[in-house]
Amino acid sequence: MAKVTIQMLQSMKEKGEKITMTTAYDYSTAYFVDKAGIEVILVGDSLAMTVLGLDSTVSVTMEQMIHHIKPVVRGAHDAMIVGDMPFGSYNQSPEQAVYNATRLMKEGGCDVVKLEGGKEVADKVKAIVDGGIPVMGHIGLTPQTISKLGGFKVQGKTVDSAKSLLEDALVLQEAGAFSLVIECVPEELGKLITEKVKIPTIGIGAGKYCDGQVLVFHDMVGLFEKFLPKFVKRYANLGEEVLKALQEFKNEVKEGKFPSDEFVFKGVYEEELKRLY
Ligand code: KIV
Ligand code: NA
Repeated sequence: MAKVTIQMLQSMKEKGEKITMTTAYDYSTAYFVDKAGIEVILVGDSLAMTVLGLDSTVSVTMEQMIHHIKPVVRGAHDAMIVGDMPFGSYNQSPEQAVYNATRLMKEGGCDVVKLEGGKEVADKVKAIVDGGIPVMGHIGLTPQTISKLGGFKVQGKTVDSAKSLLEDALVLQEAGAFSLVIECVPEELGKLITEKVKIPTIGIGAGKYCDGQVLVFHDMVGLFEKFLPKFVKRYANLGEEVLKALQEFKNEVKEGKFPSDEFVFKGVYEEELKRLY
């Protein structure tokens, strides 16, 4: 695989080839995601829950995002790296949005940025794109504004809200977004938006018709147990594996089984050392 570009993702949509994306927040995860041939890695602000142990994404800072984007960039070779813009880093003005998107790219090293919202962020998206940074939009369920939405619920369930989400998608495309994440909407709406926009859509809980799919790494490999949304498929149970390994290590040490001879260095001066006792 060669370095993934926005042009490659666009041509995948046109050819009907599905796009894959997962999150990663560190070097070793990024290494494996890239090695698996996943096209896009999102350094998501979901790191609030998965690696920082917070209850929501709202308090994540620019510094924390940059801190995690850097090792992901080092771990991945070909995958496109998306840096998630944290809450409060782009909502005030187009100038603020360009300033912070530029920081994620310059200091973090990501290829593109992602931000949440519809019509209300179109001017920020346009400003960032004009500033030379590709933008991935994110509509539907937008976790940063969860208190406005009233909780983690499927979005676009009424005809009016579905229409409004389609408008959001079209406005973001017009503003210059190169791709859209669509989160937690009925499958029919995921399909409609995907057909109406020219840019690739990447769904999470938005059905099979999106141009691509994204899952949070810790959810899909079973490393996050606090809650499991309906749209998450567990492809592995690493949590159980890790727990087993840790318990076995603990038991073997307590029982004097580890380290056995194969894990131990021996000096050639054993006899002399004995005399020192
Ligand atoms: O932060 C994140 O992981 C995300 C995905 C759920 C799209 O924004
Ligand atoms: Na996010």
